[in-house]
Amino acid sequence: MKLSVIGCGYLGAVHAAAMASIGHEVIGIDVDERKIAALSSGQAPFFEPGLPEILASGIASGNLRFSTDIADAHGAKVHFIGVGTPQQRDGYAADLTYVNAAVDALAPHLTPGDIVAGKSTVPVGTAAGLAPRIQATGATLVWNPEFLREGFAVQDTIDPDRLVVGVGAENGGSADAVDTLREVYHPSIAKETPFIVTDLATAELVKVSANAFLATKISFINAMAEIAEATGADVTQLADAIGHDARIGRRFLGAGIGFGGGCLPKDIRAFAARAEELGRGESVGFLREVDAINLRRRDRAVHLVVNALDDDIVGKRIAVLGASFKPHSDDIRDSPALDVAVRLRGLGADVTVTDPAAIENARQQHPQLAYVHDRDEALRDADAVVVVTEWDEYRRELDPHHAASLTIGRVIVDGRNCLDAAAWRNAGWNYIGMGRP
Ligand code: UGA
Repeated sequence: MKLSVIGCGYLGAVHAAAMASIGHEVIGIDVDERKIAALSSGQAPFFEPGLPEILASGIASGNLRFSTDIADAHGAKVHFIGVGTPQQRDGYAADLTYVNAAVDALAPHLTPGDIVAGKSTVPVGTAAGLAPRIQATGATLVWNPEFLREGFAVQDTIDPDRLVVGVGAENGGSADAVDTLREVYHPSIAKETPFIVTDLATAELVKVSANAFLATKISFINAMAEIAEATGADVTQLADAIGHDARIGRRFLGAGIGFGGGCLPKDIRAFAARAEELGRGESVGFLREVDAINLRRRDRAVHLVVNALDDDIVGKRIAVLGASFKPHSDDIRDSPALDVAVRLRGLGADVTVTDPAAIENARQQHPQLAYVHDRDEALRDADAVVVVTEWDEYRRELDPHHAASLTIGRVIVDGRNCLDAAAWRNAGWNYIGMGRP
């Protein structure tokens, strides 16, 4: 099937390449000429395992093309909208400028019978507001939210755990549109992946409520970490123990410096802002607390470092291991890791940051920090070490004896509770976890 994907950021670029890899003919469109030039030559503009391979094979097969000209979307049967919905500069709500611009630019190139499938994460009610503009062209709007995780984006797009398609009630073409979406996702349909058809509002809400739940789960365990700190309990054991209850589950109970990235933080804020607009602010009032707990954990990590250095960190050399908001990603949007590094530097420490993938992005945003690619170079002569992103390079591959041969101090703050505390202590380190003794 001929498909267009409007917006070639994280979501759109992966979606375009993934759809080509399952046999569709795809045109990816973005206004950013540099991004389109990179993608056209098979280069992924960001670090995502597996993406370079499917980009290259898609381009080589002729199934995948990229363009800056929205007119090239003409002729596609389904047009996916995958543009960003960042947090507004002056508030918590989502900025819908790019969604509106994409719909306005696309509308003149639609043919009656086309389907426009929104994938961007939007405040509930957005699709209903856009629908008349799409319907005026004879096309049908559906909402088809995306649940991909960075680092696993290719796998999550080709083989998702569920597919959700929201359709408008007043919309005559809905049944056909749903069948067409089934054809688009034919490998998942063949595997009997749950395919859930809803109204537009439900589809929009599925996405934001899923992210709100995940954020709440992380902040719940971080709240338990705060209680553990006051009582001498161990939050990692607590998470293991409650996680054995299948109703709770162990995943996303990793206590530490909390969540960041381009999705969870801005999505819970946008959700709270939208609920206020709907007169239901109190229904998700807890999301403000989820946000507050999350941000407190960054402060806590900074406090632990300062405290371990006897409140004297001016001029102290601190090795910060990690910059991306999570491993397997070069994304530094709202990264708790970088936030900790920036705060330590703000307190006068001499901070050196290392990361396997995110240094270039981090340097652009925070040029005041020192960066080195080599982990051991970051550790050399450090007074204290902070692990803020649980890359395997730090979690599995860093031997405490080897680290001790490089550093001056023996303080390690494990901001992700990802190290073997006993092994580090046995090697002579003052190991400090987050919510564990
Ligand atoms: C998140 C959701 O997990 C995806 O399902 C969703 O599609 C995506 O947002 C989106 O809206 O596009 P992502 O932002 O890639 O995906 O990252 P996550 O894997 O959810 O991690 C988010 C943050 O939570 C990271 O900073 C991670 O370190 C942190 N985290 C995760 C914890 O602190 N503890 C945990 O136990 C798990």
